[in-house]
Amino acid sequence: MCGIVGYISKGNDERSVNIGIEALKRLEYRGYDSAGLAFWDRSGGIICQKAVGRISNLENKIGQNGFSPADPVILHTRWATHGNVCEANAHPHSDCTRDIFVAHNGIIENYPALKEQLIGEGHVFSSGTDTEVIAHLIEKCFEGNLEEAVRKSLGCLVGTYGLAVISGRDPNKIVAARLSSPLLVGLAEDYFLLASDPSAVIAHTRKVVYLDDGEIAVIGRSNFTIIREKKAEEIEWADGQHEKEGFPHYMLKEVMEQPESIEQTLKGRLIPEAGNAKLGGLDSVEQRLRQIDKVYIVGCGTARHAGLLGEYMFEEYAGISTRTDAASEFRYRKTLLDKNTALLAISQSGETADTLAAIRDARSRGALTMGITNVVGSTQARETDAGVYTRCGPEIGVASTKAFTSQVAALALFTLFLGRQRQMPLETGRRIVRELLRMPEMVEQTLQCDRQIKELAEKYRGFENFFYLGRKYNYPIAREGALKIKEIAYVHSEGSWGGELKHGELALISEDFPSICIVPKDSVYEKMVSNIEEIKARGGPVIAVTSEGNQEIESLADDVVYIPDTIEFLTPILSVIPLQLFAYHFAVLCGCDIDKPRNLAKSVTVE
Ligand code: M6R
Repeated sequence: MCGIVGYISKGNDERSVNIGIEALKRLEYRGYDSAGLAFWDRSGGIICQKAVGRISNLENKIGQNGFSPADPVILHTRWATHGNVCEANAHPHSDCTRDIFVAHNGIIENYPALKEQLIGEGHVFSSGTDTEVIAHLIEKCFEGNLEEAVRKSLGCLVGTYGLAVISGRDPNKIVAARLSSPLLVGLAEDYFLLASDPSAVIAHTRKVVYLDDGEIAVIGRSNFTIIREKKAEEIEWADGQHEKEGFPHYMLKEVMEQPESIEQTLKGRLIPEAGNAKLGGLDSVEQRLRQIDKVYIVGCGTARHAGLLGEYMFEEYAGISTRTDAASEFRYRKTLLDKNTALLAISQSGETADTLAAIRDARSRGALTMGITNVVGSTQARETDAGVYTRCGPEIGVASTKAFTSQVAALALFTLFLGRQRQMPLETGRRIVRELLRMPEMVEQTLQCDRQIKELAEKYRGFENFFYLGRKYNYPIAREGALKIKEIAYVHSEGSWGGELKHGELALISEDFPSICIVPKDSVYEKMVSNIEEIKARGGPVIAVTSEGNQEIESLADDVVYIPDTIEFLTPILSVIPLQLFAYHFAVLCGCDIDKPRNLAKSVTVE
């Protein structure tokens, strides 16, 4: 979704626009439809340029004009919410005098009333966005000091924002403000970089200050002030993790990274002798967790699928009643929360608006809030009572892959921890730990199916519909497999329980409608085999994903993919891999834009 970058140096830096554009490109993965920037020009005023489509279009446009850029500069990638995709609606937006420029992430809910009032006072609007009201409000409140004008304007806004503001009338600063939309300031040697996402600053500095809700930062040429004094933190990700490193797409790179990313999730967190997990992020709530008798897991998309697995895990191994909800639905239903309820939010980015809203709702009703997230310092990490980082490194591809398997691994750690607090026998805990320690190696082995999967993608190329079927622990994997091919190959797919087929979906089965059946040798194996028989009896092609050595399935399925054998509740980490690869190769054959699928954004920061 939308991205913000700002740059200001000790002394008018002619590299300002280039540095800003390079940082903005690091936010491309979030998804956007237009881009723009506003910068101080040596000719003595602020220049604003915008372009629809890729950032390279904006670069071309700037290159064609003989500007003399200096700083400050603010830049933005827009993912349309209010107003269609056009240059006029791209950010930054300005006031009537074209002297105050605003880049904004979030939504201003009361903008229609504000706009009407401002128009009544003589302001002239030039876009259809909610953001433009902010520029006009700042114009109205300006009395010589930009931060004071921003502060006054914020008092009129209802909604969410991450803001970057510059003005030709007070040109030696960027003013930034945050409410429910992330912002951080990177502290480099001779300059500051403002950004909505750490990816934008990582090539310049690891020292960052995250803004909290309600804070305003005034970023000057050699110092910055913030309402509350804050300690600089270290970003843990290595810069190289933001590159494709020879892979044609981030998605493939991230799929292939899974042995290491899962290892990172588990590292230092398993206690083999005690058959337990050591999770420092839960220390502060350990006693309270003993009283918890109900868990709601919330997440969106892929994170929700991980949550569905958590539901099976917590109920079976920890004996805690658990329900998984789409975060976007959670606060609209009558959920029964009390102090013995925990809400566990799962999110790669830690910035998904629906998930954050669910956390806030649960917290306001007295529940313990916990999180599993990947991004250190994200809003989710800071707003939950306790949590676990997945530590899988930056995920750039819009289609979530390694974040998913790390979320599942983190859920397995949670399960051990909660289970051992309750009725899980020591031997069961030890067995789970042993299997988790083998997991990076088993994932590596599973990835060797890549060539076979590529051939299968070629064989099934041209089919326009797919079923993904699984039961128990592999039902969420069926949902995840269907989502993957849907989002990157734009193919119709349905993920369902094998047992539900005969209650309606079977009507769709024909020789043109293949089914991908996840059928490891687990407690529901025989049941899944019956479901495959039902499909074959109606002429439907079947690709089976099963445990190594289970050759009997070859007489039933058209194609068979083998995964290593492990305990039932950990098979999903392996069985999802062929499905990720199938979606990837299928989408490549379809000529799709793998890392930036149409209509989607990496981080969905609006409700
Ligand atoms: O950052 P989050 O994990 O909260 O994102 C949630 C979903 O938007 C995300 O998983 C989405 O479904 C992915 N594109 C799936 O590949």
